[in-house]
Amino acid sequence: MAMTPPMGWSTWNHFKHDINDALIRQQADALVSSGMRDAGYVYVNIDGGWQGYRDANGVLHPTSSFPDMKALGDYIHSKGLKFGIYSGPGEKSCAGAPSSYGYEAQDARMFASWGADLLKYDLCSFRINMQEESKGDVEKSDAMMKAAYEKMHQDLVATGRPILFSLCQYGWGASWTWGQEVGGSMWRTGEDIADTYESMATNGFGEAGLAKYAGPGHWNDPDFLEVGNSGMTVEAQRAHFSLWAMLAAPLIAGNDVASMTAETKSILLNGEVIAVDQDALGRQGDRAYAEGLLEVWTRPLADGGLAVGLFNRTTYPARMTLRLKDVGWQGPAAGRDLWAHKDIGVLSPASTFTVPTRGVVMLKLTHPRG
Ligand code: GAL
Repeated sequence: MAMTPPMGWSTWNHFKHDINDALIRQQADALVSSGMRDAGYVYVNIDGGWQGYRDANGVLHPTSSFPDMKALGDYIHSKGLKFGIYSGPGEKSCAGAPSSYGYEAQDARMFASWGADLLKYDLCSFRINMQEESKGDVEKSDAMMKAAYEKMHQDLVATGRPILFSLCQYGWGASWTWGQEVGGSMWRTGEDIADTYESMATNGFGEAGLAKYAGPGHWNDPDFLEVGNSGMTVEAQRAHFSLWAMLAAPLIAGNDVASMTAETKSILLNGEVIAVDQDALGRQGDRAYAEGLLEVWTRPLADGGLAVGLFNRTTYPARMTLRLKDVGWQGPAAGRDLWAHKDIGVLSPASTFTVPTRGVVMLKLTHPRG
């Protein structure tokens, strides 16, 4: 599962807890009509806000906004999409609704019976269990957390349905060092993203040094995309999308797919940047060098090429120099600009680019033919 980083859409960033059956169907339809599904965005993930109450038999019921989850799952599947659901190891979700504590196996079977293809499992109130039982012993608290994820992992496996396990515990206990062991195909590496450049940059650039923990089947997750929401300039959104691609991050859109501007579409549907994210080699990129807030990131690609991101984190346009020897490139390099969709010819050993405020220039280098 997840041989390349998972792609899809989630309710959370844009709709928060204000979600219902009709909204999910509308967004699923829009994923198809906008071309997003065909570009790879196949998971339709219902995040927090769907859980209603647990009855006397331990059955977890959705709120009245979700009258029939199985039918909704069938609808999603009928569109050639996959169905993601959300729970957590605590007694309560972050919204105060019931979570899976004590009912893991029963919930896993129910999710499988609905046709779920992904489970995001959010630590939330299990932090209270960890605090109370460990009494400040960090090792014990981390062990409890891992055991809670392992429990649900086993219960998902026991359903017999392949369900991608997405760990959400804000990077606690260095999730990247154990996420795979507990069956995770992806794990959050930090706190919740917010729709600001600062938050995006904290989560994205914060993954420097974590590349070795990711690879086919197991990915570092800097959180959902904020592309198409209102908090960042277009340049910053391009930088966001480019950075996620350099990081081999899951590309889970977090906007209102049913009302996208042409600009939003040009970002989320940039096939050349998506191809970097989905590159078959599955090597996460990392920072090659930086001069203050001007950062050059690279990511090796399956065809021998190299993706390069020149990120200007300052609040003014900057001149940035790509030095081939500092990105480990041997011999001449042909460049392609992945946002301008243009070949830029053979690069000199040090080429200078103007990078917009909080923006990016993203290139692919290849060995020139002939
Ligand atoms: C947070 C989680 C978010 C979202 C939210 C839902 O704990 O990190 O990604 O799932 O809960 O309430």
